[in-house]
Amino acid sequence: MGRAFVYVILGGGVAAGYAALEFTRRGVFHGELCIISDEPVPPYERPALSKGYLLPEAPARLPSFHTCVGASEERLTQKWYKEHGIELVLGTHIKSADVKRKTLLTAAGETISYKILIIATGARSLKLEEFGVTGSNAENVCYLRDLADADRLVNVMQSCAGGNAVVIGGGYVGMECAASLVINKINVTMVFPEAHCMARLFSPKIASYYEDYFNSKGVKFIKGTIMSYFDMDSNGKVTAVNLRDGSWLPVDMVVVGIGIRPNTSLFEGQLTLERGGIKVNGLMQTSNSSVYAIGDVAAFPVKLFGETRRLEHVDSARKSARHVVAAIMEPNKTDDFDYLPFFYSRVFTLCWQFYGDNAGEVVHFGDYSGSTIGAYWISKGHLVGSFLEGGSKEDFEAIAKATRLKLAIDDLTELERQGLGFALAV
Ligand code: FDA
Ligand code: NAD
Repeated sequence: MGRAFVYVILGGGVAAGYAALEFTRRGVFHGELCIISDEPVPPYERPALSKGYLLPEAPARLPSFHTCVGASEERLTQKWYKEHGIELVLGTHIKSADVKRKTLLTAAGETISYKILIIATGARSLKLEEFGVTGSNAENVCYLRDLADADRLVNVMQSCAGGNAVVIGGGYVGMECAASLVINKINVTMVFPEAHCMARLFSPKIASYYEDYFNSKGVKFIKGTIMSYFDMDSNGKVTAVNLRDGSWLPVDMVVVGIGIRPNTSLFEGQLTLERGGIKVNGLMQTSNSSVYAIGDVAAFPVKLFGETRRLEHVDSARKSARHVVAAIMEPNKTDDFDYLPFFYSRVFTLCWQFYGDNAGEVVHFGDYSGSTIGAYWISKGHLVGSFLEGGSKEDFEAIAKATRLKLAIDDLTELERQGLGFALAV
């Protein structure tokens, strides 16, 4: 016994919400579409969890940030799904999938079948245990991926006002949580193995701009080392973080942001995987023609760079979601996904955007002791990536356009001299 749908979206995160909106725009009949999520709430804008959700004053709370408010579209509350005849199966974990039979099995033992499946299972936080460290379960050690994690982080943070936090990891979660902790009047030390923060994206010069800013807010950086073990008290609370270099830091709380792994396990051995994700073509279709994948879990061809990539950012989740629905409902009118990678972050009063690829040589511009800084990446004589902090809407649009055009660059010194003016003149 079980339920049957024409379309099933597995996963109820950002991509699921944007796909649902697109389905209704293109005309889906009541009862045809179902979203299954192990979270207890309808899809929401996950980026809010490390920003507005952690504010000490007037923090963002649901229902204010359900999708699709992040792109200034409709806010899809539980009522909206009901009105549109979309079945929301919440608080339900899928424990196995059979793509030959076109069925999903819930943890409670129900079989849900589909004609077309869209996999939007996102990713999970990597745990310290996967690096040989124990103690992740301690009550004052926090990760941040979903609402339950965010609620836990808020509670721990509120119990540590004026105390000390160690943030493990110098990526997105690390930087955004460090800023939020400072705003909550907690003393922060960041620990990560690389030579500078945001090592996957930033050049050393860009990183040093942000590290100086964070320093000015009281954040300390311990770089080039990793933690080796926690000291615990008799209640199982972490009291200190011991580092590989032999030093130790007393703590009231720990936040861990050491990367993610896409949730592919249900489909391993059934679908082709690449770059740690589920491989799809330009229509977001997997190696099984009835199954599609979008968002963090999908490895898709980025036409602009002639390569398959897996991106872990909200804009790609939103746009791949819209694209898959077009591809499913109007396959003959839909071209291959042609996506310009776009990442951004907001911390304190800072805000940066990045477009394209950070490959090749980097040319910095702007005033690195001021408030507007930028960089271009040049590979094989073409502009392939652009970064800007502190620009206007028009400035950001200009760097996006210049990157999308992959303009030929023959004089790096001249590009540096023109700086933002180069993109604005395109
Ligand atoms: P997403 O993770 O949103 O959703 C996956 C869903 O599938 C979840 O609801 C999960 O519970 C469910 N699921 C998984 N397996 C399941 C199973 N077996 N059964 C049932 N349900 C299952 N990006 C950016 O560009 N700018 C930003 O500022 C931020 N900020 C940010 C902050 C924080 C704290 C995080 C964690 C992430 C960001 N991101 C971001 C990244 C962005 O949020 C991310 O790229 C998107 O949420 C990806 O959307 P998906 O729908 O692919 O996965
Ligand atoms: P990340 O990949 O951005 O950073 C991981 C960091 O972990 C690295 O920078 C490194 O410093 C650190 N690290 C790796 N191994 C370590 C170890 N053994 N000990 C200590 N540090 C170690 O991942 P994240 O920061 O955990 O973010 C998780 C996901 O959330 C990513 O997909 C990210 O894109 C997404 N996210 C995005 C944004 C944004 O786009 N603004 C904001 C928050 C989260």
